[in-house]
Amino acid sequence: MIRTETICMSHIFITGASSGIGAALASQWLADGHKVSAVARRRGRLDEIGQDHTSFFAGEGDVTDAGRMAELVDEATTRLGPIDVAIMNAGIYVPQDSRQIDPAVYAQHMNVNYMGVINSLAPIVPIMAKRKSGQIAIVSSVAGWRGLPKAAAYGPTKAALISLAESLVFDLAPQGIDVRVICPGFVDTESTAVNDYEMPGLMTADAAATEITRGLRGDKFVIQFPKSFTRQMGLLRWLPDRKFFQFVAKRTGISLK
Ligand SMILES: NC(=O)c1ccc[n+]([C@@H]2O[C@H](COP(=O)([O-])OP(=O)(O)OC[C@H]3O[C@@H](n4cnc5c(N)ncnc54)[C@H](OP(=O)(O)O)[C@@H]3O)[C@@H](O)[C@H]2O)c1
Repeated sequence: MIRTETICMSHIFITGASSGIGAALASQWLADGHKVSAVARRRGRLDEIGQDHTSFFAGEGDVTDAGRMAELVDEATTRLGPIDVAIMNAGIYVPQDSRQIDPAVYAQHMNVNYMGVINSLAPIVPIMAKRKSGQIAIVSSVAGWRGLPKAAAYGPTKAALISLAESLVFDLAPQGIDVRVICPGFVDTESTAVNDYEMPGLMTADAAATEITRGLRGDKFVIQFPKSFTRQMGLLRWLPDRKFFQFVAKRTGISLK
């Protein structure tokens, strides 16, 4: 892997920090004494997270707005100093029935989940490259490993993020920037509250945040959890296609005919 030394985690910039995994990360790192810049649209939620902390910046903004993201990175840096760790976490998930395709829903997933990461990276990368240090973590999903039921709008954005992160390594590792990709299984958040099926290995956002922090301090490029679930999902990646479709269909009660 690229580097194994501990990175100074003094200023952490997190998108999608108003709820779920991002909020848990922000809270944990604030509690550990780090400086946190938290970005999301719901300002009130951000203010609640940072209310007892001075080393906190609430960045109200939409990740689909590239200009706003550049402003927020600038403001975060001015207030709390250079960003050491950037976690690109903002995302949406709307389950799909692909018999009815609404292009606007697919475009929205791409705009938030994929372009939101690009818009956040654009102002951060040059600063980290100039300093020859920094860590960038992109939140993908096990849903990016193979196509899954109901994930036709969501899954492709997460697959794209894995490919993006891999490409970034080649360009950014020589600049001293450590790039990681995070692939959670099921985490109990507002996003997954819409699921009407049993989610194997479901974990809390707090536990997910702890796994992420541990992963960032380790040396694995892909940070995946919970292992009990991601190991099974990992095996599915290598199943022959027909066997993969049959296995998932059986597990999810779908008849392929
Ligand atoms: N939960 C899971 O099982 C699971 C599994 C794998 C991967 N993930 C990924 O983990 C990440 C966090 O999701 P979560 O489960 O914690 O869900 P969540 O509680 O719904 O959090 C999503 C966060 O993204 C923010 N967000 C959404 N659209 C945004 C936009 N246009 N601009 C700025 N912020 C935006 C939301 O804030 P505002 O609404 O305030 O803007 C919120 O803070 C996502 O990328 C998700 O795909 C989740």
